[in-house]
Amino acid sequence: MQLDDRQKKLLGRTFLDYQSTEAFLQNPIVVSRAEGVYYWDTEGRRYFDGIGGIFVANLGHGHPRVIEAVKRQLDTMSFSPPMHGTSDIALDFVERVGEVTPGTLNFVKPFSGGSESMEAAMKFARQYYKQTDRPHKYKFVSRYLGYHGSTFGAMAASGTGKRKTPFEPQMPGFIKVYPPSYYRDRFASWEECNRFCAQMFEDAIINEDPDTVAGVIVEPIGNTGGIIPPTEEYFHLLREICDRHDVLLIFDEIITGWGRTGSMFAAETFGAIPDIICSGKALSNGTIPLGAMIAREDMAEAFKGDPAAGLNFAHGHTYAGSPVGCAAGLAVINEIVEKDLAARAGKMGTYLAEKLEGLKKYGVVREVRGRGLIRGVEFVKDTNGLQPFPELGMALKKTALQNGLIIRVDPTWFAVVPALVISKDEVDEMCELIDRSLQEALAMV
Ligand SMILES: Cc1ncc(COP(=O)(O)O)c(C=O)c1O
Repeated sequence: MQLDDRQKKLLGRTFLDYQSTEAFLQNPIVVSRAEGVYYWDTEGRRYFDGIGGIFVANLGHGHPRVIEAVKRQLDTMSFSPPMHGTSDIALDFVERVGEVTPGTLNFVKPFSGGSESMEAAMKFARQYYKQTDRPHKYKFVSRYLGYHGSTFGAMAASGTGKRKTPFEPQMPGFIKVYPPSYYRDRFASWEECNRFCAQMFEDAIINEDPDTVAGVIVEPIGNTGGIIPPTEEYFHLLREICDRHDVLLIFDEIITGWGRTGSMFAAETFGAIPDIICSGKALSNGTIPLGAMIAREDMAEAFKGDPAAGLNFAHGHTYAGSPVGCAAGLAVINEIVEKDLAARAGKMGTYLAEKLEGLKKYGVVREVRGRGLIRGVEFVKDTNGLQPFPELGMALKKTALQNGLIIRVDPTWFAVVPALVISKDEVDEMCELIDRSLQEALAMV
């Protein structure tokens, strides 16, 4: 699309996330409307949204039930006093989240997004140990290639290399190990690779001194790492390692939560229950900033006692527990449960994966992977040599947009993470757009 002079001038006065304005201006999009799996730009051109906003619009853009819930709450009360009280709807939200989470993950603190939930989890973990006679446990072990948010703590837990360099030095107390995807070609089997990488967590904890380690932080399926799901055994091993060394297992389910992987949470998909889940993104379907830190209920006991002792969770944000956010969250959860959208994501994900497998005919696809409706496709120059093919990804980024398709390209792989409500016809339409864009990209490299 063409930008007018005013739009160009205004783009000079703001920044897009993780994107150079000059690169954006070569192929700009300014959208003004969204519905279901589509956006429309200001010139009326339609785009297929293959990543649900950015893993947000699980129910499709503009879902009537969520919009209605938000409107109703706006008409009733849009804000409640965070330091003097709470709201009826925030308590309803706490109850409903607890009903759909696995295990005893019933302690729920709402926030305004993913990074806030991650920050809260890390502060909660540190304070928890201080108040339960293990005051030296403060370090976190997470993974290279992981992404947990843009704020300082979440960034320190992330392993996103150059993205972090401009902000160094990073916060101390964050140790990194490698995800299985990093070593996958160096082991005889994927299972063996996963066992080795789980063991790395234990080795790091032992060498750091378990008495100083508070938590292990992982995304069950890392997006920045290329959507490569570890084995179920990997998560079972992490659970055992954390139990052995009295370390909290923290799952960043900011992308994988709320039905995405075929279960309500990836914790269930992989059969390992963490001590804390961090949530965000799809929890409000993109209507209003919303996240939640969800912890084992018994952990909250460490924060309770005689009022004279002044025990509390020394943390808060102005919009944490926003009644409007909670109203959106309740509507989203109820819709997912009533329509069984997690199971739907599982079934439709299998169909999507089969369609994506069809791209192998071009001889440049190493692997199609993922769970449910989070799928990644990796490019190689040839399927024997397995040499990465970033030039193809860069070309695909352009051709996809030219064809009106929004997907995540990184550039040796691309991801499709569509709304859970996507129909079979819409999967077909998206895959046709991908196929066409890939053919055009191949002609360019
Ligand atoms: C896995 C993961 N964790 C955390 C975050 C941070 O969430 P937010 O951008 O809402 O702060 C993101 C955002 O992309 C994410 O993908």
